[in-house]
Amino acid sequence: MDPTSLQRLVFLTSLLSCSTNQARLTVTPSSSQVFRDEPVSLRCEDASDGWTVRRNTSIGNRAECGVGWGRPAGSSCNVSHMDPLDSGGYWCESTEGSTSNTISITVSGGSVILQSPVLPVMEGDDVTLTCRTKMAAPPPASFFKDGVFIGTESDGHMTLLHVSRSNEGLYKCRVQNKGESAESRLSVSEKPPMTTTNTPTSSSSSSTMNAPTSLSSLHLVFRVLRHLVVFCPYCICTYIVVSLYRQRARGNDPSVSVAMTPPTHAEQGLDDDVMSAVTTEHQF
Ligand SMILES: *[C@@H]1O[C@H](CO)[C@@H](O)[C@H](O)[C@H]1NC(C)=O
Ligand SMILES: *[C@@H]1O[C@H](CO)[C@@H](O)[C@H](O)[C@H]1NC(C)=O
Repeated sequence: MDPTSLQRLVFLTSLLSCSTNQARLTVTPSSSQVFRDEPVSLRCEDASDGWTVRRNTSIGNRAECGVGWGRPAGSSCNVSHMDPLDSGGYWCESTEGSTSNTISITVSGGSVILQSPVLPVMEGDDVTLTCRTKMAAPPPASFFKDGVFIGTESDGHMTLLHVSRSNEGLYKCRVQNKGESAESRLSVSEKPPMTTTNTPTSSSSSSTMNAPTSLSSLHLVFRVLRHLVVFCPYCICTYIVVSLYRQRARGNDPSVSVAMTPPTHAEQGLDDDVMSAVTTEHQF
């Protein structure tokens, strides 16, 4: 294979890899609860053009960013002042109907919120829950899981060490004389079976859900396989189109030659055509 066709192959493969990527929705600030009037930016990551942020709220389903809510900014959607009516599920959707993960956001009209990870955290990570009141440092707060008191923290931060599936549930917090937050769900995803000892254990990654290095190699294998599956029909199509074109270029009536040539003859013809197609390619 000469450099030009190799370049073309690489180009096509990367093109396919872009179009088959799965988008992921992230939110800034990374919190499943915000106060009324706070700004929020939602971003579709790993998304090509044509992905938009949509949401389900009490005032409408599948509402697209820019249509009645939010301001589209590239692959992001910005909301400058969140309102309790903006509470709901948010996701990215392509024009073909593929969807990303869904993020649940609760907008509080009250005076206490619980800041917890919006994305599922990995088993073994440390997770920090923060109880916040408006415009002040986190106050002393009590924390609850599924309605059951689990402890008080004088600085408003509760850290769950090395979380497991048993830490999953609905969390809320309460600040004396201020009130309590809404509940938010903490999801813990299973550690992938293929883990190596050099997996980074930094707790700062706990709320951002960065894939560990061990995952990325597995991910790469899946991607290559997926591209091969997508690429094969493409190659076969190209092969057939080039063959038909060559046949037509020879001056045969294409409709007749395609319809009437006996199978064995046709196969022979295709082989010849590919050989000549390949030699022609080399002359570019
Ligand atoms: C949004 O609402 C539609 C219509 O009720 C429903 O089919 C869909 O599953 C909802 N999507 C999410 C992510 O909640
Ligand atoms: C949207 O929000 C992001 C993050 O806050 C910011 O960087 C960006 O400039 C905003 N874009 C627009 C068009 O407001």
